[in-house]
Amino acid sequence: MDKNIDITLKVWRQKGPKEKGFFETYQLKGISQGSSFLEMLDVLNEQLINEGKDPVVFDHDCREGICGMCSLYINGHPHGPDTEITTCQLHMRKFNDGDTITIEPWRSAGFPVIRDLMVDRYAFDKIIQSGGFVSVNTGGTLPDANAIPIPKHNAEMAMDAAACIGCGACVAACKNGSAMLFVSAKVSQLALLPQGRVEATKRAKAMVAKMDELGFGNCTNTRACEMECPKGISVSNIARLNREFIGAKLKD
Ligand code: SF4
Ligand code: FES
Repeated sequence: MDKNIDITLKVWRQKGPKEKGFFETYQLKGISQGSSFLEMLDVLNEQLINEGKDPVVFDHDCREGICGMCSLYINGHPHGPDTEITTCQLHMRKFNDGDTITIEPWRSAGFPVIRDLMVDRYAFDKIIQSGGFVSVNTGGTLPDANAIPIPKHNAEMAMDAAACIGCGACVAACKNGSAMLFVSAKVSQLALLPQGRVEATKRAKAMVAKMDELGFGNCTNTRACEMECPKGISVSNIARLNREFIGAKLKD
């Protein structure tokens, strides 16, 4: 049964991208284990505001595991100690009375800290803009999408890859700060479908080039990304990305 717990928080505070950050310690009393992790942070911020202090800045939007905004590193794990969930889906029943919880922002050269726990993940948008789309004409007299036969296995793998919500946990978990799992999911969801094959060669090269340009590291197959991904994106997508990339280079 859920009960109320007292916890200690060690939260990363940083006023801006160029400011020096530090851990601040807070005590919270009577937190319901039935509340979500973000609701617990809401309680902290209410407490700080009542004390006339600056609230802790953190990103969130849907609070349903869909948007990928809630990028928190909790007790050494992106999205916390549970598996295949986002921070907003994490509940306080994962923690015990008297626990100390350490909360940090994503730490990666590709995601600079904006303030406190909020990072700039615009680099992911830039990677998508470089090729993560299909330039098909969606108006006029196009055939029904269901009229194109697609093997069931391919459709399922494409759907699995499309589950990526662009949260960046894979980058935060990787000792090299590699974005390969994210890029491979975005390349795979299109490469596996006939509509995506038309621009596949251009797409793989452009997205990998953009990823390198933006300072993300190389993949050394530690699989930390797969372990920490809230959507269970498989590293088999990285193998597909490598095949797509090498195939594209051979056509140069
Ligand atoms: S691959 Fe997983 S961890 Fe990486 S951005 Fe997508 S959902 Fe997040
Ligand atoms: S707030 Fe949208 S996934 Fe967590």
